Amino acid sequence: MSNVGIGVVGLGRLGKRHAHNLVYATPGASVIAACSIVEDDLAYARHALGIETTYTDYAELLANPAVDAVFLVTPTSVHAEQIIQALEAGKHVFCEKPLAINVADCQRVIDVAKKFPNQISTIGFVRRFDPSYVAARKQIDKGMIGQPIMVRSQTVDMDNSAEFQIPFTATSGGFAHDIVVHDIDLARWYLGAEMSTAYTTGGCYRHKGFEQHNDIDNASALCAFDNGTSAYFFVSRIAQHGHDTRTEIVGTEGTLKIGQTPIANLVEICDKHGVRRECVQDFFERFEDAFRLEAIDFVAAIREGRAPRCGLEDAIAATRGAIAITDSWRSKKLVEL
Ligand SMILES: NC(=O)c1ccc[n+]([C@@H]2O[C@H](COP(=O)([O-])OP(=O)(O)OC[C@H]3O[C@@H](n4cnc5c(N)ncnc54)[C@H](O)[C@@H]3O)[C@@H](O)[C@H]2O)c1
Repeated sequence: MSNVGIGVVGLGRLGKRHAHNLVYATPGASVIAACSIVEDDLAYARHALGIETTYTDYAELLANPAVDAVFLVTPTSVHAEQIIQALEAGKHVFCEKPLAINVADCQRVIDVAKKFPNQISTIGFVRRFDPSYVAARKQIDKGMIGQPIMVRSQTVDMDNSAEFQIPFTATSGGFAHDIVVHDIDLARWYLGAEMSTAYTTGGCYRHKGFEQHNDIDNASALCAFDNGTSAYFFVSRIAQHGHDTRTEIVGTEGTLKIGQTPIANLVEICDKHGVRRECVQDFFERFEDAFRLEAIDFVAAIREGRAPRCGLEDAIAATRGAIAITDSWRSKKLVEL
C-alpha cells in the first residue's frame, strides 16, 4: 500500500515534535503539507523538516487531495471544529487531547464521525502508548494484581513551565482538561469503569497569574467509579525537581507502580550532599517514545483499516471527568456525573 499522506496542523510547542516524528520516525507516512497561522512555524516546517507545501489557511490544506490524514496539534478550543471539517473533507484524523472543552462539542464530533465509518478518528492519549503504562495494562490483563480497585495518579509539571502555561490556559480549558485528563483516561483504562463522582480541592499557591483565567496551580481530586472502585488524582505546576508523572494501581492481589521517581538516566550521583538522580524535565522527555509510537500506530491503523487504540468515546468520557473535577473545585461540592 502507498504511504499515508499527512498534513500536520499546528506547529507550536508539541506540533514541531510530532512533525519531526512523522517526517523521520514513522514508517508508511509521507508528510505532504503543514499548516499554522504563524509564519515562523511554517518556515520551520520548510527549512528544518523539508515540508515544502505550507498553508496558513486550514481549508486549503484540506482541499489538497494528496493529504489522506490530518495530525491536529492546535489549541484545544478549535479541535472539535477542525476534526469535523477534516472528516467532511474525507480525511482520517489524529487530534491532540482533549477532544473538546464541553460535552456538546465532543458529541458533535462523534455524530459526524459516525457518518464516516471508514475514516479513523483518534485522540492523542499518549500514555496508552508508553511502554511502561502498556506493560502495567498487560499485568492487569494477566490477572497479576487481581481486581484493580484504586488508581492513584499524578501529573506534575516543572515550575518553569508556568510562564508558558498561564497564557495557554486561555484556550486549554484549565488544569483538568489540559492535564488531569491524562490521569482520568488512565484510570478508566485500568479500572474498566466510568467516573461517577468527583470532589476536588486546590488553589493558586505560587503562580497567581493562573487566577486571571479562573485556573489554579495545584489540585487534588478524589473520584468514585461506577463499579465501586476509586481514583485519586493530583496535579501540580510547581515542581522544582522534574516532570513528576507517576501512577499506582492497587488491586486485590497486588499493586503496580509506574514511574515513582522521574529519573532521566541510570546514573546515581553520590557526593557530599548524599545520593541523587537527575530527573526528566518535561512531558516530552518523559513520553518521547510514546509520542513516536502513537504516530506509528495511527499510520498503521489507517494502512491496516483497523480501529485506533483510543476512540472518540474514550475522549468524551475523559472530558466529562475533567468537567466534573473542574466544577467540583469551583463549587466546593461533590459533583455527580
Ligand atoms: N499529549 C500531551 O501530553 C500534550 C502535551 C502538550 C500539548 N498537548 C496538546 O496539544 C495541543 C497544542 O498544544 P501546544 O502546547 O503545542 O500549543 P501551542 O500554542 O504551542 O501551538 C499551537 C499551534 O497551533 C497553531 N494554530 C492555532 N490556531 C490555528 C488554526 N486555527 N489553524 C492552524 N493552526 C493553528 C499555532 O500557530 C501553533 O503553531 C493542545 O490541544 C494541547 O492540549 C498535548
